[in-house]
Amino acid sequence: MKYFDYAATCPISEEALQAYIKASREFFANTRSVHDAGSKADRLIEHCRERMAELLQVAAQGITFTSGGTESNLLALYALARAGKGKHIVISAGEHSSIHNVTTKLVEEEGYELSIVPMTKDGVVNLEKLKHVIREDTSFVSIQHVNADIGTIQPLETISEICQEKRVFLHSDCVQSFGKVKMDKVTSLVDSFSISSHKIYGPKGVGALYVKPSLSFTPFLPNVSHENGVRQGTLNTPGIAAFTTAAEMCLNKLEKHQAHIKRLKREFLASLKEAGEKAVGSEFESCVPSIGLCIHKIDGQHVMLEGNRRGYFFSTGSACQVGSGGPPKMLLSMGISEEEAKTFIRISFGVDQSLEDVQGLAECLNEVIRERKKAV
Ligand SMILES: Cc1ncc(COP(=O)(O)O)c(C=O)c1O
Repeated sequence: MKYFDYAATCPISEEALQAYIKASREFFANTRSVHDAGSKADRLIEHCRERMAELLQVAAQGITFTSGGTESNLLALYALARAGKGKHIVISAGEHSSIHNVTTKLVEEEGYELSIVPMTKDGVVNLEKLKHVIREDTSFVSIQHVNADIGTIQPLETISEICQEKRVFLHSDCVQSFGKVKMDKVTSLVDSFSISSHKIYGPKGVGALYVKPSLSFTPFLPNVSHENGVRQGTLNTPGIAAFTTAAEMCLNKLEKHQAHIKRLKREFLASLKEAGEKAVGSEFESCVPSIGLCIHKIDGQHVMLEGNRRGYFFSTGSACQVGSGGPPKMLLSMGISEEEAKTFIRISFGVDQSLEDVQGLAECLNEVIRERKKAV
């Protein structure tokens, strides 16, 4: 397997695929239809909601199924903004573009004021700065659990304490952590969080949003009948069934999978002799599958294209940022110069890879580096 872009998306697992096929055949009716076929599909959805709630250790009535992390973030931030105290909102500079885009909309169309908290050089949110930007009229703070570019885990426990003390809501984008890092503590620290199916070997176009049931908010759209009025549109029953199967698989095997990923990371870094570079931000032992590397003085785009030419697929950052121009904002916010940030590549591993696979990738990168050195 020469695919090393699991942080962008994963192939669907066989179990999730089978669940998708079965639900497509047997539970195709609209869950809002009052006939028996509709009720049958609705029962499957409610079973999935209960199962997901058990896996996440949250109340089932707080879960809304969505089309993915992007939509979950949109609905969550609007919910918290409308339930909050005032017209000021706070996010970290390392957030995914879906969070940046919603807050831009809140600023431009709804008159909110936005504060963006920088990251430290270690890739975690600057807690001192966070404390200082929260104001009397702050509605919510949104901080991701795991960063999509370099895999750093944010200190949500401390962030939650700060938010509670200042009485502001806390949302966390958990798209890169769900299925990879234990979430049981996190779910009780936040008011809402987002997860996505395709990052955990489920189908694309499915996700979930959790909002604490005690929180009363005006939904994004009025007069909605699906998902308790929180989310509009016919439910993707096969997708939700397959997402739930993928979540069960990932959470049941979380420790085993992460031990394997750690071995892959260790082997990869040991084999990457020529680069002589350390992973950016991401702690060597941290349990997330992404790893960021700035390969000395070689443009990341060049390394990515040369890898591609040799059949190795990895990226230069979050897929949703590609085309926006420039290196990942996360790196710049950590104080990495624009020049160095342009040398960034993101490697992310999957559970079905072997040590030989990552040795092959390291050898490919070593070759690209050797060639580049010869050419200059
Ligand atoms: C941190 C983070 N949040 C949100 C998303 C968006 O999720 P989806 O692709 O399910 O819309 C992604 C996907 O790359 C992500 O990495």
